[in-house]
Amino acid sequence: MSEAEEAVREAVAPALKSLRIRVDSVPVREAAPGFGDLSCPVAFAAAKQLKELGKKPDEIASEISVRVNTGELSPWFEKVDSAGGFVNFWLSRRFFEKAAGEAARLGKDFGKGGEFKGKTAVIDYSAPNVGKPLHVGHARSTVYGDAVKRLLAAVGYKTVGFNYPGDAGKPVAELIVAMRRFKGLPPTKSEKELMAYYVKINKEIEKDPALAEEVRDVLEKIEAGDRGVLGEVLRIREMSMQAFDRTYALLGVSFDETVGESEFIAPAKKIAAEALEKGAAEKGKDGETVALLEKTGLPNTLLMRSNGTTLYFSRDLALADYKWKKHAFDLNFYATAAEQNLHFRQAFAFLKILGRPYAGRCAHVGFGLVSLPEGRISTRHGRVVLLEDMLAEATAEARKEVEARLAQIAERTGKKYSAKDVEGIAREVGVGASKFAMLRVSPEKEILFDFKKIVSFEGDTGAYLQYTFVRAANILRKAGMEKAGKTGAGGAGGKSAVSGGGSGAWEEEEKRVAKMVSFYPRVVSDAAKSYRPHIVCDYLLKLAADFSSFYEKCPVLKAEGGARARRLEIVEAVKTVLGNGLELLGIAAPEKM
Ligand code: ARG
Repeated sequence: MSEAEEAVREAVAPALKSLRIRVDSVPVREAAPGFGDLSCPVAFAAAKQLKELGKKPDEIASEISVRVNTGELSPWFEKVDSAGGFVNFWLSRRFFEKAAGEAARLGKDFGKGGEFKGKTAVIDYSAPNVGKPLHVGHARSTVYGDAVKRLLAAVGYKTVGFNYPGDAGKPVAELIVAMRRFKGLPPTKSEKELMAYYVKINKEIEKDPALAEEVRDVLEKIEAGDRGVLGEVLRIREMSMQAFDRTYALLGVSFDETVGESEFIAPAKKIAAEALEKGAAEKGKDGETVALLEKTGLPNTLLMRSNGTTLYFSRDLALADYKWKKHAFDLNFYATAAEQNLHFRQAFAFLKILGRPYAGRCAHVGFGLVSLPEGRISTRHGRVVLLEDMLAEATAEARKEVEARLAQIAERTGKKYSAKDVEGIAREVGVGASKFAMLRVSPEKEILFDFKKIVSFEGDTGAYLQYTFVRAANILRKAGMEKAGKTGAGGAGGKSAVSGGGSGAWEEEEKRVAKMVSFYPRVVSDAAKSYRPHIVCDYLLKLAADFSSFYEKCPVLKAEGGARARRLEIVEAVKTVLGNGLELLGIAAPEKM
């Protein structure tokens, strides 16, 4: 919408000036039904400013509208008036034509902007703990962080997807002992195999106190930064990452850089020393190093334990330095569970105390818990729900849905689908639906998964969007086929068919869809700037619903001449936006379904 919004601001500005109203920025929003397309509520703020004149918002809005009407009206508007304190703008037919045409013409590039061109963002997400399988909590970080990365890229950032696996904890120490004990563990290719080792060594540890002692010793050595043990850590990390990578591939998620927590033990010690020297930290009574944060209103926290080992907190400080040195970022973003909100507030505040020039460029979003319904998959592996299992469950549920649909199609058209086709579609729907279910909820809210619901083709689901995308693609394909068959008739491109403009008035449903399409670039920008992919989800669901109403009311393939060309262009625009939007969310847009 930005161009029309811009036009509203431009139209209103001179009127505000002559009325001596000063505002930092002119607000513009979607109009209420029946009151045009865009509304400007500036008269409400103006009435407060001009209190001494005793003017009501209604009067001021009407004065603004009169002044706008005496000037030259932007071609994007058909009419401007006022009601109830709002200045209302009716978009013109030219605007609708442009909106649909532009999306269709720009294709993949529609919605991509250069607002942050030349800037770099490092996005820290997923970051599972090595030695244990990925569970649903990490799934949310992985899926959400990946969407934020895609959003930031769409507004022009150069993005660095950063994975920071936790490889300095007890599970790693346990696996190191397992590796010594069971000699040459074969590489684990799946999370289940990883889990099996984990369970096996834990059983042994229970039986043998010497092993427990060894685990403690290894952990101490990891924390002390012992080179030999860190070599073993690396081997375990690689084994673990192999299993994670398989799940990442299934999710369609990838990283540009992976650096483990254990690599920041030595630099974290240096930071602790620096902090002491700068008076930003002090020694506690047992010799521990305490970061002094109280003057920022946050609780103090430890940089080093009394035995000289580092902590998650101090390692994160070192990690931030590393990212800054390597990428000179404009934005340093983290996605984790909300439990870590305080941790990141403390870390960013302490970076500022230490005088890091980039401290103000750091941002963190903490999200709510993900829980699954009680049932098969939550018990199969004890208390941990594997991400692998979750995706398999969603795919199984999707397969039922897809099979039922395809049977219907087969009955109607005689078209048969191979088992491979069904499997492929079920996976795209199952994985896509799981991702959408996590993304459509605003980050701070908790999520309760309902597998049946999320793979349904009706309702607020990823499957519904995928289905609408395929529907639009089918219309275009049919139009293309007819065009090829009927020589000389106006086809999908529809260039010549619209010429002359005698194609009749736009139906309300057509306008509605074209207008929604024009909102897309702003939606992407809003979502990127606020790190809220669910804004894109909400928008796509609305667009799909508007498209359905349009399709019910306005026949496309059966229409003729200009109306047909125009409607095909609308369908093309919707397909473009749904395709681009799904891609932004990291969800596959299937060819058929
Ligand atoms: N490994 C941590 C966890 O599983 C998340 C790490 C997030 N990233 C960071 N830079 N602290 O809780």
